[in-house]
Amino acid sequence: MKKTALIFGVNGQDGSYLSKLLLKKNYNVFGVIRRSSSFNTSRIDDIYKDPHERTSFKLIYGDLTDSLSVLKILKMTNPQEVYNLAAQSHVKVSFDVPEYTANVDAIGTLRILDAIKTLNLKKTKFYQAGTSEMFGKSPPPQNELTNFRPQSPYAVAKLYAHWITACYRDAYNLFACNGILFNHESPVRGGTFVTKKIISSLCKIKEGRKNTLYLGNLYAKRDWGHAKDYVEAMWKMLQKRNASDFVIATGKSYSVKDFVNLASKELKMNIKWKGKGLKEIGIYKNKAIIKIDKKYFRPLEVEHLRGSYKKAKNVLNWSPRNSLKQLIKDMIISELNEVK
Ligand code: NAP
Ligand code: GDD
Repeated sequence: MKKTALIFGVNGQDGSYLSKLLLKKNYNVFGVIRRSSSFNTSRIDDIYKDPHERTSFKLIYGDLTDSLSVLKILKMTNPQEVYNLAAQSHVKVSFDVPEYTANVDAIGTLRILDAIKTLNLKKTKFYQAGTSEMFGKSPPPQNELTNFRPQSPYAVAKLYAHWITACYRDAYNLFACNGILFNHESPVRGGTFVTKKIISSLCKIKEGRKNTLYLGNLYAKRDWGHAKDYVEAMWKMLQKRNASDFVIATGKSYSVKDFVNLASKELKMNIKWKGKGLKEIGIYKNKAIIKIDKKYFRPLEVEHLRGSYKKAKNVLNWSPRNSLKQLIKDMIISELNEVK
C-alpha cells in the first residue's frame, strides 16, 4: 500500500525537497498552495505534471489562516503523514507583520492539530517545522534541553507552535514531532535570506551585472546546513515508534562575514575588508562591492546559533552529509547557470 503524505508549504524551499524525497520513497503526495496573482510553483514545476493526469503528486489550494480549508483538506486526503512547513518564515519581516506571523505560524499550527483531533485521524502522524530561532538569546551549543529565549515575533509564534504540538501530543495521544531545525539553505533558498542574497550578488558582481551588495549585521553567527539533508531528518522522525522532538544542525557555526569570505574564495574573488561598523566595506578589484545598510539590521538580533544533533544521531541515525563548502558550491553552480 502506498502511503499518503500531506505537505503544507509544499512550494517553499523545504517543501520542494521533501516532495521529491517522498515521491522517491513511493508516497502519494498532496501539497497545499496559496492562490497567488502570479505563478508560485517554480520550485516544484519539475515534478508537477498535468493535474488531469493520474500522478502521485497533487496540489490543493488552501491557507493556514483559513480553518475551513485546513479541515476540508485533512478530511479529503486522510494522510498517514502531515508535514507543516508553511510559515511566514522571514525573521526581519515578522517585526513588520507580527500579527499575521502569529496567525500563520502559531495559530495555523493549532488549526492543523485541531483538525486532526476533530476528524479523529488516529493514524495520522504530524511534523512541526520548529526553529533554532526559538533559542534566541540562549548561548550555544543549543540542544533539546536548552532554554527558549525568543528574540522576534517569528520566534515567539514558532514557540507557541512548539508547545501546542507537545500539548496535543500529550493531551490527545497524537503522534506529533517538533523538529528544531537550524538554518538550512540550498540553491532554491528564498532570495531575501542572507546566504542566497550573498551568493546571488557575488555571482552577478563577478559577471559584471551588479555593482554592490548591501548587508546588515556581518557578525551574527549561524549553523548552516543543506536543506536536502534536513528534509530527510523530518521524514525519519515520523518513522519512529514514538513521537519526540529533535534538534537538527551541523554543530558548526560561522559568521555572515565568514560566509562572504568562503563564497568569494569559491568564486576566486579576492575580497579585502576595510573600516568598522556602518563604514565597513568589502573591496574587490579596487571597488567597494560590499557595503553596510542599516535597514538590514533587526530590532533584536540572535547573535549565535550552533546546534548539537547528538539525539538525532543516536535515535534517528541522522547526521548531516553536506559540509558548508559543499553547500556553497551547490548554490554557486546553480546561480552561475542562471546568471549566464
Ligand atoms: P519558505 O521557503 O519561506 O516556505 C514557506 C512556505 O509556507 C511556502 O510554501 C509558503 O507559500 C507557505 N506559506 C506561507 N504562508 C502560508 C499560509 N498562510 N498558508 C499556507 N502556506 C503558507 O520556508 P522554508 O525555508 O522552506 O522553511 C520551511 C519551514 O521550516 C517554515 O515553517 C520555516 O519557518 C521553518 N524553518 C526553516 C528553516 C530554514 O533555515 N530554512 C529553519 C528552521 C525552521 P508561498 O510561496 O505562497 O509564500
Ligand atoms: N536576511 C538578511 N539580509 N540577513 C542578514 C543580512 C541581510 O542583508 N545581513 C546580515 N544578515 C544577518 C541577519 O541579521 C541574521 O543574523 C543572519 O544574517 C541570518 O539571516 P537570515 O538569512 O535572514 O536567516 P535567519 O537566521 O534570520 O532565519 C532563518 O533561519 C531560521 C532558523 O534559525 C530563516 O530560515 C527562519 O525561517 C529560520 O527559522
